[in-house]
Amino acid sequence: MKVYFIGAGPGAADLITLRGAKLLGSVGMVMYAGSLVPTDMLQHCRGDAEIFDTAALDLEQQEACYRRAQLADCNVARLHSGDPAIYGATAEQMRRLDALGIEYEVVPGVSSFSAAAASVNAELTKPAVSQTVILTRVSGRASAVPEAEAIAKLAEHQATMCIFLSGPHLKKIVADLRLHYPAETPVTLVYRATWPEQRIYQGTLATVLKQTKRTEWNLTTMMLVGAALGKELSLESSLYSKDYTHIFRVVKKAKKVKVAA
Ligand SMILES: C[S@@+](CC[C@H](N)C(=O)[O-])C[C@H]1O[C@@H](n2cnc3c(N)ncnc32)[C@H](O)[C@@H]1O
Repeated sequence: MKVYFIGAGPGAADLITLRGAKLLGSVGMVMYAGSLVPTDMLQHCRGDAEIFDTAALDLEQQEACYRRAQLADCNVARLHSGDPAIYGATAEQMRRLDALGIEYEVVPGVSSFSAAAASVNAELTKPAVSQTVILTRVSGRASAVPEAEAIAKLAEHQATMCIFLSGPHLKKIVADLRLHYPAETPVTLVYRATWPEQRIYQGTLATVLKQTKRTEWNLTTMMLVGAALGKELSLESSLYSKDYTHIFRVVKKAKKVKVAA
């Protein structure tokens, strides 16, 4: 018996990996985070699979599911939104599985920050603008953020920031970002990226609070901030420059052409 922690991706049922979908279709028990994973994703499950929405279960109840599957020698797919490695609360489950002697494996997924960037065709890293992406959040009731990682401190880098779980705290986040980012810094909010009800706001740190209704971005919203989101032309990377060589591409010398006599 084995538990597979599977990244479901941001929402669209065809954005789970092939490996994830295949495993989902093979197991007898599925536990999915119903608050963030749409039921559409369950189309990949076996018809006879036992399915639990973990949004309604505390950790002890989830452990009870794992115990039951262990007794029945039944593999389990534990579906997490996006990529399980990011705010997935997988570590505490793994600790319990270790104690139960249950084997597990993680199947990565497309994180919501990638999906949000894709929804506005953004490259988050642009030469000479930003080469660093910070994934962060503000402190919430479920987990505190260490003081050293406060947004006001991270903002000093002026890197591209992807702020999770941000909706209800927009006002404070904007105030903290403004300590270091200029007012004209581009901001993108994406509500439910890749879901049918996806909504996008694009503006700046100066406009975002004036032009959005806070309550509309409370849940399942990704906030992207940084100069890299701007449309202005930045320097181009040397990667595809004809003069830049690397082991996979050498500068081609002009071929000698034989001219028929
Ligand atoms: C508990 S975290 C899970 C993150 C997830 N593991 C990931 O990699 O995207 C939940 C937060 O992720 C973000 N999120 C998840 N799915 C999203 C989506 N489809 N669109 C926008 N934000 C999303 C929101 O900020 C939400 O509050």
